[in-house]
Amino acid sequence: MIKKISVSELIPGMYIHDLNCEWMEHPFLTNSFPVDGQARIAKIRSLGIQEVYIDTERGIDLPHAPTAEQVQKDLHQRMQSIAATHTERPNPVDLITEAPRAKKLHTEANRIIKNLMTDVRLGAQIEVERMEPLVESMIDSIFRNQSALLPLAGLKKHDTYTFEHSVSVCALMVAFARELDLPYQTIKDIALGALLHDVGKAMVPDYILNKPASLTAKEFVAMKDHVVYSIEILKQTPGIVPVAMNVAAQHHERHDGSGYPHRLKGGEISLYGQMASIVDVYDAISSNRVYHRGLPPSAALTKLLEWSEHHFDPRLVHNFIRAIGIYPAGSLVRLESGRLAVVREQNEGDLLYPRVEIIYNTDLGCYLTPELIDLRSGNDRVISNEDFNKWHINPKPWLPSAS
Ligand SMILES: [Fe+2]
Repeated sequence: MIKKISVSELIPGMYIHDLNCEWMEHPFLTNSFPVDGQARIAKIRSLGIQEVYIDTERGIDLPHAPTAEQVQKDLHQRMQSIAATHTERPNPVDLITEAPRAKKLHTEANRIIKNLMTDVRLGAQIEVERMEPLVESMIDSIFRNQSALLPLAGLKKHDTYTFEHSVSVCALMVAFARELDLPYQTIKDIALGALLHDVGKAMVPDYILNKPASLTAKEFVAMKDHVVYSIEILKQTPGIVPVAMNVAAQHHERHDGSGYPHRLKGGEISLYGQMASIVDVYDAISSNRVYHRGLPPSAALTKLLEWSEHHFDPRLVHNFIRAIGIYPAGSLVRLESGRLAVVREQNEGDLLYPRVEIIYNTDLGCYLTPELIDLRSGNDRVISNEDFNKWHINPKPWLPSAS
């Protein structure tokens, strides 16, 4: 049986099933292994890991610990109640109109950030004024209808992850800032900081950034240095205001002080740094990497909620979940009728009943003629999140901009 326990309850003889942390945040070769001594436990603790899953069939049990199934059930209920308290925020533009614009913008944004990273690597200075039109276009698109740009941000290729991640984080940060009703100028500063938050990766060797295997302890340290490089580069960039700097400088800090580079805690981390840490983790764990399959968006949000007890401010995680919906646009869901559907957009104010496109019949195992339905009509409802990979369905043809 898989059970969740606190690291303080770990003893030699137990078997770790899952370290329950971001895969990039630990230097172990695998996520599951036997606990062979106190040194191993000390190492896990030193990484800031607070809770792990153990396999009681392969090691010592802890009778009172909750099962993974109980933990998931509890998280599911919490997700539902978070979604139930959302304020209405109508979209000024419909999805069909915004989709082609968002697609063009996404391509352009990736090209700009790719070139910027290359220029920085060659020693060029970042010109903030030249980034402004991109920042404004990203904000405009999200405010017109965020369901057009956000699903595009979710799809990345292995070799282009570094700059595609920056564009994703920017789009998600704007949606998050919108949910928090932050002023326009602050949103602009946040968006700029998000586009540049990982600029220090230009100084990390490619073989470490794209290594198709676990990093060695030394490589792990070199990877973490990207934050220090980002800070140095942005300090030398005229026009970088504190909000943008905080987004970049604090995106790997964690609420419990287990982050880096400065191990800041709670209120020592600015609101913008805390937002960035949530969004950065969400995008990282929901993206496919060289040797790591990304979680479906809803599963990634559930993980954030689980980790919010230690790593993030729980209230901010709730706000982020409301910002993109518990069934984010572009994700696959199973309906009570047995059909699979792609979430098109949220019904603002009613996140449990999104507008979806029905595509597949699980009873017959075949595709259906696509049909758009509004789940608020009451004819069907979401019963679970699904993984495109599990059903061998390519998500790309089902993006709003593909039609
Ligand atoms: Fe980073």
